[in-house]
Formats: sequence, C-alpha cells, structure tokens
Amino acid sequence: MCGIVGYLGNEDAKAIVLNGLFKLEYRGYDSAGLSLYNEKKQRFDMYKDQGRVAHLEALSKDAERSSIGIGHTRWATHGKVNQINAHPHVSHSKRFVVVHNGVIENYKALKRDFLNGMTLESETDTEVIVQMLDSFAQNMSTKDAVQKTLGLLKGSYALLILDQKHPDRLVAAKNKSPLILGKSDNGFIVASDLVALSKHSDCFAPLDDYSVVVVKKDKVSYFNRENSPVEMVFEPMDFDDNLAEMGPYPHFMLKEIMEQPLVVRTIINKYFDEDVLKIKPDIIEALNNSDRVYVLAAGTSMHAGFVGKRLFEKMTDLPVEVHIASEFAYHAPTFSEKPFFVLISQSGETADLRACLVHIKELKHRVLTITNVRTSTLAREADYFLEIFAGPEIAVASTKAYTAQLIVLTLLAYAYGKQTFDIRKALSELAHAMESYLADFEAVETLAKTVLTKRNAFFIGRGVDYYVSLEAALKLKEISYIQAEGFAAGELKHGTIALIEENTPVFGLISDKRIALNTRSNLDEVRSRGARTVTISIDSLSEEDDAIILPDVHEYLRPTMMVLPTQLIAYYAALQRGCDIDKPRNLAKSVTVE
Ligand code: M6R
Repeated sequence: MCGIVGYLGNEDAKAIVLNGLFKLEYRGYDSAGLSLYNEKKQRFDMYKDQGRVAHLEALSKDAERSSIGIGHTRWATHGKVNQINAHPHVSHSKRFVVVHNGVIENYKALKRDFLNGMTLESETDTEVIVQMLDSFAQNMSTKDAVQKTLGLLKGSYALLILDQKHPDRLVAAKNKSPLILGKSDNGFIVASDLVALSKHSDCFAPLDDYSVVVVKKDKVSYFNRENSPVEMVFEPMDFDDNLAEMGPYPHFMLKEIMEQPLVVRTIINKYFDEDVLKIKPDIIEALNNSDRVYVLAAGTSMHAGFVGKRLFEKMTDLPVEVHIASEFAYHAPTFSEKPFFVLISQSGETADLRACLVHIKELKHRVLTITNVRTSTLAREADYFLEIFAGPEIAVASTKAYTAQLIVLTLLAYAYGKQTFDIRKALSELAHAMESYLADFEAVETLAKTVLTKRNAFFIGRGVDYYVSLEAALKLKEISYIQAEGFAAGELKHGTIALIEENTPVFGLISDKRIALNTRSNLDEVRSRGARTVTISIDSLSEEDDAIILPDVHEYLRPTMMVLPTQLIAYYAALQRGCDIDKPRNLAKSVTVE
C-alpha cells in the first residue's frame, strides 16, 4: 500500500526520492507525489497527481535541485483517486508538508475538536494531521506541536514532516506502519521499505512504534514513546539491490517464478549446518509446551498455512487450525489450554495480522512469525521468528514466497516431529525437479491461451491438492481477472457443478495416490457436462492424457511442485489479456490497513 521516502543530504533529493518511489511501486498505488525545498523561493514546491511515478517524474522535471525532499505513493483509502487527494498534503499557511502511510481512525473527531470546522482541501484522513500541526505550532515549538499531534492520533501512521521554518530538518514518526532510516556519508534517507533505501545507505535502523526522529544533515535525534532521547542502533546494510531488479525478464512475476529452485537452495544453505537442520531450540520448546497450533494468515500466506496444517498433521501429533487473520482478530475461537500461534506473512506488515498479534499478546500467549522480511513489524514484535529467505518479492502476486513458506513449514514440522528421512536430500531433489520443469514449460503457455477462453475457471483437488487449488485460483483471478475458484474435488457436485457449461475450464490437480482415482472421477463428471478439463499430475500417478506431468518428489514436498504450472498458467493468461501483471488493479503488495 502507500509508500513513503524522504531524503536529506548532499545529493539530489529529487533523484533519490523518485528512485525510492519507483522501488516502492510494487506495493500498489494509484497516485504519486513529491515535495522539494526551493532555496531561491524559500518554500516547499509540490508535485503530485494520480497515475504512475513515471508521470510524477515528468511533472517534476524542471524542479530546482534540492537537498531535502519527501515523496509518496498513495493507495486510496479515504477519498477518490485524484490530484487533490494525492500526497504530500500542505497546511493552509503552507508552513507544514506531510506524507502519510496508514489510516487515522479518529480523523473526523480530530477535525471537529481541533480544527474549528476548517474547510479541508482534500477528502483524506491525512490532511487533518498537517492542519493540526500548523494550528498547534502557532503557540508552541515545532517539536511540541509534533508531539501533541501524534498524541491525539488513533490508528496507524508512518509520517514524514517538513517545516518551512526549519527547512534544514526532516521529521519522521511511526506507529504500526513501517519506517526505516538509512544512513551514508552523503546523507539520510527514510522509507517504508529497505528496497527503497538500500542503494543510498551503508547502514539502517527500523523505527519503533510511537518514536519520532528529527534528521538534520549532520545529526539524528531519536525520541522513544516517552519522548526521551535514545541512541539509534544501526545495522550494516546487507540488502542486495540487484535482487530487486528485473534483469532479462519481462515481468517480476516470471522472474520470481523462475527463481524458485534458487529459493529452495538458499533455504537449504540457511537452515542446514552440514546435514543438521537448525531450527532454534526455543521454538521447538514452545511447540513442545503447547497442545494446539493456531496458524493465522491472509491470502497466499493462508494457503501456505493450510498446506502447513496438513504437513504438521502427517509429521507430528500436534493439531493445527488455520484462521483468516481478519476474522480471527475480532472473532477468535475458543482456545485450547496451551495454544501456540504462528503468523505467516510474506511482508510481515499485514494489518489484519498485526491486529491478531495485539490480541494474542494481550492474552500473554506465545507467537512465532514466519516471514520474508526480518525487519518487519510482525518479525520484530513476535516472540520467535523464522525467515523464509525468498529474497525480495516485487510482483504483487506472491509466488516464490509461497514456496519458501511451504519449505520452512515443512522444516518446522520435520524438526518438531523428529522425522528421520533425509530432508536435505529431498529438498535438493525438489530444487532439481523444479529446475527441470521450469526449463521447458512451453505447453503451459499454449494451454493458457487455448483453455482459458471463458470468464470463469475452476481448480479442483483433494487433500493438499485442494489447498494448492485455492492458491492456483487466487493467482489466476488476481492477475488475469478471470473469476476462478479453488474447490475440493468431491464437493463440486454438491452445488457448484451447476456452473459448468460448454468449455468451462476445470483444472484437476493429482499428487496423492490415495485419492487420485476419486479426483479423476470428479473430472469425468464435469467433462461429461461440457467442461474443458486439464489434468496436472505427478509422474508416478500420471495417465497418458494428462496435460501436465510433473517430476516426482518427496510426498511432503509435492505441493511445492504442483503449484508451479498453476503460477505459469496465471501468468500467461494475464499476458494474453494484456493485464498489468506485476501491479494488478486494486491490489497492494503490503496490505497495511484493516
Ligand atoms: O504479506 P502477506 O503475506 O501477509 O500478505 C497476505 C496477502 O495480502 C497476500 O498473500 C496476497 O493474497 C497476495 N497478493 C497473493 O498473491
């Protein structure tokens, strides 16, 4: 969702902020804006509009060189997508300029109580902040005005503030929404995500909730939630900027699909010491002390959770429940006596999960976060944390992170379940099998073109194949806009089969011997009602007419293999329709609002 970048230093602020905004495009947005200090005119100039960052770059092409600036990509929550509602927002006197990521829940009450019925220019919740700052700063220092304003906000915010009276400083503040400060000999950069600041920083420090940082060219002052000055602890920048580049691929999504064998190998390297699996003993201990695992997640990560549940049930004696984070946050089930919570999130910033975490913490239960972003809020606030090492995932549609989540869940179940098969070998074989499939998938491109000719489609399977079907359907709908459903193969005949018409595409997934024939019967049922069926099977269970036959891998790792062709089917269906594959409409990569 919204992304923010600010810069103060010796270099060209516009170039650095725009570069950061380009890097944040993947989060999803509909408008972009920028404010730069114009030293000649001693004011902050404003450039903003709906549309892409490239459009903003053109809009600001004649801007004066500046050493300080802030920028924003907006994913609309309050008010239409238009130029006025785009950030930055400026106060009536033009003194303060603000960009904001998050949602101010009490903005209407704040407007009523502190802005005396002032007419606001935009429909956003953010504008209230900038007008309050201006109004408070008339009778107090900027620092006090910032503290007073922040103290009144309810909701989430990552904020960058510029003050015309002090154009040599940049103020940043955060609660719930992410914000990271980067430092180099040439200046400071602050942004929502490491990817936007890595190129211009030698080291970085994530900001804590309720903290405020005042950045000057030669100095940073950091204040904690009690408003006391504290030392900022910087970590060396180890983020490889090249990993977030598209390279020879036409889309990030295709690049990320192709990277999956590499992700499996990276996980092997990170999680094994020679042949010994390294899962922190305190995590195993926490599982030992629990009687039930509650997996909470959203979207693709939830689909990984479903597969994880099945793996746990096969490899261990611990029951697992999977819950939709947004439901769990406010309608939690009755817990077992000794519950253990596992949050799965690629971004580690999903607001629905954050709401769950707050609830779980209030109840004083233990939480493990499994995420791709070790600096993320959910990683930092959980008791335990496992990194999935997928590398930066830029396409909105999650592919390699799903695979990495499945592998880490498998490792966790393996370690806790005291399994003894050679999992390292099984993973190496998986990487190899994935590679061999990804070396030759032309058939999928043709299939996507010839089969997906209708406005709807179905993916069906049983057991873990059902869970992979859910993921396959989500992938297809989010990037190609074809209405797709993932279904338990045996359930179709209880109602949904009524939707089957001539040439309705139905993909059947078959990777489990026990129910292979049942799924085949379900495919026969829909085929005899006109459906265009496509069978995706694993070699040892394949039949001659199956459209896609995948190499055999260890049974616990089959979901990771089965998902590959479905990701490619979604990709080519979207390509065929001319969709914006990496940035599908209405979607955001990191969903930081509830
Ligand atoms: O960052 P998270 O894993 O917490 O995100 C959860 C979902 O928003 C995400 O998986 C979403 O469904 C993706 N667009 C799927 O491709």
